[in-house]
Amino acid sequence: MTKTARAYTNIALIKYWGKKDPALKLPYTNSLSLTLDKYYTDTTSQIISESKDIISLDGDILDDKSSQRIRNYLDVVREKFDRQEHLQVVSTNHVPMAAGFASSASGFAALAASIDQTFQLNLSKRSLSSLARLGSGSATRSIFGGFVEWHAGNDDDTSYAEPINEDPQFDIVVLSAVISTAKKEISSTQGMEMSVKTSPFYSSWCTLVDSETEDIKQAIANKDLQKIGEIAEHNALSMHALTLSANPPYTYFAPETIEVIKLVKHLRSTGILAYVTIDAGPNVKIICSQESVSEVQRYLNNSLKNVQTFEAHIGKGIQYI
Ligand code: DP6
Repeated sequence: MTKTARAYTNIALIKYWGKKDPALKLPYTNSLSLTLDKYYTDTTSQIISESKDIISLDGDILDDKSSQRIRNYLDVVREKFDRQEHLQVVSTNHVPMAAGFASSASGFAALAASIDQTFQLNLSKRSLSSLARLGSGSATRSIFGGFVEWHAGNDDDTSYAEPINEDPQFDIVVLSAVISTAKKEISSTQGMEMSVKTSPFYSSWCTLVDSETEDIKQAIANKDLQKIGEIAEHNALSMHALTLSANPPYTYFAPETIEVIKLVKHLRSTGILAYVTIDAGPNVKIICSQESVSEVQRYLNNSLKNVQTFEAHIGKGIQYI
C-alpha cells in the first residue's frame, strides 16, 4: 500500500505566462513562487486490472468528460515510462474554491508524487517536478516548499523547479482577498496562449521576467520583503497588461479587483507593508508582513463588505503520509 502524497498550492511572485512548447508545457520564461501552507491536495493511487483509469475526486468518481485532463496525463506518464497498467486515483482537495485558489498546482504535484510511488519510479525531486509539469505548469513548483524557481529549460529534462529558500521563519504572509469563486471563462492555458499569439508586448514581457527574476532572487537573499512585494506587484500587473493588449483583448479583473489594488496602494501610502499579486482570475493575493497583515485585513473587511480574506504562510514541499 503506498502512502498518500500531499502537495501544497503555490502563488507565483514572478508569473509563468506562456508556453514555447504546449505539449511538454515548456514555458518561455523562468518563474518564481512561494509555496503556501493550509491549501493542499492529498492523492493516493494503485494499479488496477481494469482497462481504464478510475479517478475519484473529493469522494465522487469522475465521468469521462471531467476526468479527461487527468486521464490524458496518465497516458503521457505511461508513455514516458513505458508502462501499461491503469490506475485508480483517489484525490481530495483541501484547496477551497472559496479561498480563491486554483487546485491544478497542488493537484498535479500530488498526482505526480503518488504515481512515482505506485510505479516505483524512485524519481529525484527535480525529475518529480518535471513530471508534475506535464500535468500543469504551476505544479512544477509545488514539489518544493518556500520560495521556488522553475527553470524554463529547453526540453523535458531541463525544465524543472528548484528551491531557493525553504525557511518557514521568513517574514511573509499572503492574504487572499476573495472576490469571486465562479469558474473563470478563460482558463490560464487559453489565456496565456492568446497573450503569446497576439499581444504586441509579449517579447518585452520575456525580457522583463528575466530581469525581475534576478532582482527578486536578490531581494529574497536580502530578506527584503518590501522589495519582494514591489517586484511581485509590478510583475503581476505586467502579466495582466498582456491580457488587455491581446487581440481580442480580455481581462481577469472584476471591478472589485481594481478596488482592492487601490486600497492596497492607499495602505502603502500610510506606511503599511502590502503589495498585490493576481493570477488568472479576479481574486487578489496581498503580500504582507506578520506585522502588517492584521491591519490590512481589518481595513479590507471594513471597506469591502463582500470581500472575504484568508491568511496563509510559507508551506512545505511534497509530504508522504
Ligand atoms: C497566472 O499552471 O494553470 O497562475 O500549465 O496551462 O496548466 P497550465 O497553466 P497553469 O498557469 C498558471 C498561471 C498563473 C501564473 C503562475 O502560477 O505562474
